[in-house]
Amino acid sequence: MKKILTIIGARPQIIKSAAISRAIKNHFTQVIEEVIVHTGQHYDEKMSAVFFEELQIPQPNYNLQVGSGKHGYQTARMIEGIEEILEIEKPNFVIIYGDTNSTLAAAIAAAKIHIPIVHIEAGLRSFNKKMPEEVNRILSDHVSTYLFPPTITAFENLQKEGFKIDNLPLYTIDNPAVISVGDVMYDNTCFFSELSETKTNIIQTHGLLKNQFVLATIHRNTNTDEAVRINAIFHALQTIADSYQIKIVVPLHPRTRKQMKLLLESELFEAIHSNPRILLLEPVSFLEMIQLEKYAQLVITDSGGVQKEAYFLKKPCIILRSETEWVEIVENGAALLCDADYQSILDAYGYFENKPTIAYQNSYGNGNAAESILQTLLQSINPQ
Ligand code: UD1
Ligand code: UDP
Repeated sequence: MKKILTIIGARPQIIKSAAISRAIKNHFTQVIEEVIVHTGQHYDEKMSAVFFEELQIPQPNYNLQVGSGKHGYQTARMIEGIEEILEIEKPNFVIIYGDTNSTLAAAIAAAKIHIPIVHIEAGLRSFNKKMPEEVNRILSDHVSTYLFPPTITAFENLQKEGFKIDNLPLYTIDNPAVISVGDVMYDNTCFFSELSETKTNIIQTHGLLKNQFVLATIHRNTNTDEAVRINAIFHALQTIADSYQIKIVVPLHPRTRKQMKLLLESELFEAIHSNPRILLLEPVSFLEMIQLEKYAQLVITDSGGVQKEAYFLKKPCIILRSETEWVEIVENGAALLCDADYQSILDAYGYFENKPTIAYQNSYGNGNAAESILQTLLQSINPQ
């Protein structure tokens, strides 16, 4: 029996972990034991607890309850807590996801006590080191033993940073494996898309008509914490809702809700809150989100996960950033990078309103990346 210790903390990591837990349950219960550690980075019911039951993720064995705070405070508390658990559990592998402070904390804790790190979503780069996520992902990749880039671009980014792609087992931190098997989020979208039809009904609850509403999410720190940017984004949403007489559904990250109160100009704040076409919601569950993405006319977002899910579900996307790690989506013409620029957002909406032809090529694997990852790990320590 091999022991995998999974580190989760932020919403997207909880969701991603569902793919690995599901693959263990379906194929590897005899050979893999999973221990789940929740750092507590996200803690509101709708940012964390809601996903466990809905996505059938086992309850965490540990919760560090670190909560919110500055980067140093939050990351340091996580490192301390994770190290203690690693010393107790002595796992064969530590799985980390993505690029949050929980990812980095686990990478530092595990690398220093020589536990092999498995980085799922390795190799993604924005080439913008002002993003906390870019720092987290570069540092995490460079102390990992197994790197699973979800796309060819991510694979090539690692090659360019000096990772060898022909290393053979036994893999170590100094002889890491870089293996491309697809994207666990594509696994999840495939698996949960149908289920969302029977288990939720958010469309009906809010009186939405299929393909006649826009879905928007905003949470990136640069967009929520800079007055000019958050005002430009909500001003653009307000104009689109009124000019095109279309509903816009906005499940609000708690960070965004707080910052709207602090930074939106009072007139705009009032207008947004009283606009019957703008639905400001609490964060929704993953099945609800998938259903919203599936039936939206278009998606406007600064989220990494949401831009990709829009693509999986063949929806055009306006990205509220100046760059993206998921460059395939933009190269295929399914998304436009508009930053937090009022006019660019309006122009992009006008462009997609005219229904340009978009080829949604699959760049994200075949829907069983999680199973391939686990198979690779097992084979690497028991080579035939
Ligand atoms: C974090 C990740 C980001 C990821 C996002 C997913 C880092 C540096 N950032 O950003 O990469 O895209 O999660 O959602 O790790 N808050 C609550 N309740 C919660 C969680 C957060 O109220 O359950 C509020 C707090 O005011 C907190 C703020 O949101 O200070 C930001 O939370 P934090 O986890 O620091 O960063 P995110 O913006 O969520
Ligand atoms: N998501 C969700 N409910 C919401 C908003 C997002 O379930 O109200 C899901 C979304 O479908 C995606 C993930 O959360 O799978 C993305 O998380 P987020 O946007 O917080 O972070 P990012 O992907 O940018 O790191």
